[in-house]
Amino acid sequence: MAEPATSVTVSEAIERRMSVRAFSDRPVAEGKVRDILDRARRSPSTGNLQPWHVYAVGGERLVALKRLIAEKLARDPAGEPLEFASYPSPLWEPLRARRAAAGRLRYEAFGFADKDGSGLSELLRRNFDFFGAPVGLFFYLDARVGPPQWADLGMFLQSLMLLAVEEGLDTCPQQVWGSWNATLRDFLGVPDGRTLFCGMSLGYRDASHPCIAARTERAAMSEFASFAW
Ligand SMILES: Cc1cc2nc3c(=O)[nH]c(=O)nc-3n(C[C@H](O)[C@H](O)[C@H](O)COP(=O)(O)O)c2cc1C
Repeated sequence: MAEPATSVTVSEAIERRMSVRAFSDRPVAEGKVRDILDRARRSPSTGNLQPWHVYAVGGERLVALKRLIAEKLARDPAGEPLEFASYPSPLWEPLRARRAAAGRLRYEAFGFADKDGSGLSELLRRNFDFFGAPVGLFFYLDARVGPPQWADLGMFLQSLMLLAVEEGLDTCPQQVWGSWNATLRDFLGVPDGRTLFCGMSLGYRDASHPCIAARTERAAMSEFASFAW
């Protein structure tokens, strides 16, 4: 798909947004990142708390961060203790099947055999390279906040990802960065008491990569909505 024209509707942006896991080396100006974050400020939040904290990394600092993580990953593939689990365990149906299908699609798109050891470690390595993106973002919350504020951050993230699409950019939210949260805290200078929710790759997609054609499925509306009229 070509870059969007000068304007996209919200529906078009929702349709185009996907987790892109292959970026071109085309740079993204710091001013553009600032502009997108500035517009994402209008996201709603409980009581207008605006609980999000964002750390944007690019240029030489991103190179340094990637190098640091690559070194640590080579020594310790398991990473650091997580602050929270990404999924309930065990997962139940239909959630388990949806997660498995998305995983299968991803592995096939990269040409890896289904979640074999080397495929998993290569995908992790690419995650921690921001899939080649020139900008990495990290999203934190004060550890004292509750579920409503986690949802607030989710809305902020979606605003940001749709604004990125409007700029012809792509994103991949990445909870996997949680396994380096102690290192990131030091590297970014995050004050104590903040929890990392996720990282995010930001850049221009490499449209020639097969993973771009691999779109995840969605359940039909009838599976999650009921109507009383
Ligand atoms: C909070 C959050 C964290 C995620 N973490 C990762 C991650 O660490 N690595 C990754 O490759 N994808 C990650 N994803 C992407 C999801 O796998 C993806 O959104 C889902 O499969 C739906 O596909 P789509 O985004 O392409 O529509 C994350 C998504 C969200 C919303």
